[in-house]
Amino acid sequence: MDLTILEKIDSTNKYLKEKKYKKNWEIVMAKEQTAGKGRRGKVWNSNKGGAWFSFCFAEDKYLSKTEYGKIPLIAGLAVIKGLEEIEKLNYKIKWPNDVYVGKRKISGILLEKSGDFFIVGIGINVNNVDFGEFKDIGISLNKITDKIYNIEKLVMLVASKFKKEYYRFLRGEWEEILLEIKEKNYLKNRVVEVMVNSEVIKGEVIGINNSAELCIKKNNEIYEIKSGEIRIVYT
Ligand code: BTN
Repeated sequence: MDLTILEKIDSTNKYLKEKKYKKNWEIVMAKEQTAGKGRRGKVWNSNKGGAWFSFCFAEDKYLSKTEYGKIPLIAGLAVIKGLEEIEKLNYKIKWPNDVYVGKRKISGILLEKSGDFFIVGIGINVNNVDFGEFKDIGISLNKITDKIYNIEKLVMLVASKFKKEYYRFLRGEWEEILLEIKEKNYLKNRVVEVMVNSEVIKGEVIGINNSAELCIKKNNEIYEIKSGEIRIVYT
């Protein structure tokens, strides 16, 4: 996997999206992003010190659209596996695309599509300590341990973990991967609210199903959520 390191760019996702000739599994990281993108049009705070990177890979012809939702969860697992090699903490996946430590977000994932390519954008708070408007929910490795980490090493680790997990997935090992994801399900047994077709569903998270949907139990009925912004009501 080739790594390009940029000093400063608006967004590594945008950079790869707009790049005409993309190479399979190329990685682009930036020391700083001036317009880091989060999901749902949100801004992603990208000061110096964090791991801000994107990589791309060509769509596999056997992958159906209904499986796209599995990719961010696989990326979440890869982030955890990479982080665990540099600092052992209790990381969890907050469905569908975040990684948490305790009650705080340490990483966010943005999956985009550009032609036949998937672009996986990952932001991990590493040595950065200022989370701007996200100061109440953000956390970085440095805030927890006071140590300074090698960002390039983490980027390469996470990208290669993703590639490994993704090939496992293409080989038909989704069920095994899902078991690992389920073990790290931050939302399990929490009461949450999510908007579905302009209706607010409030209920207890009972798990993640085989199609990577979040399962919420409300009045003995199970709702299977494909995508959405999850708000935790209480734990
Ligand atoms: C989210 O939590 O909403 C997703 C955040 C994704 C941020 C990363 S940082 C590298 C890549 N470039 C971007 O502009 N966004 C992603």
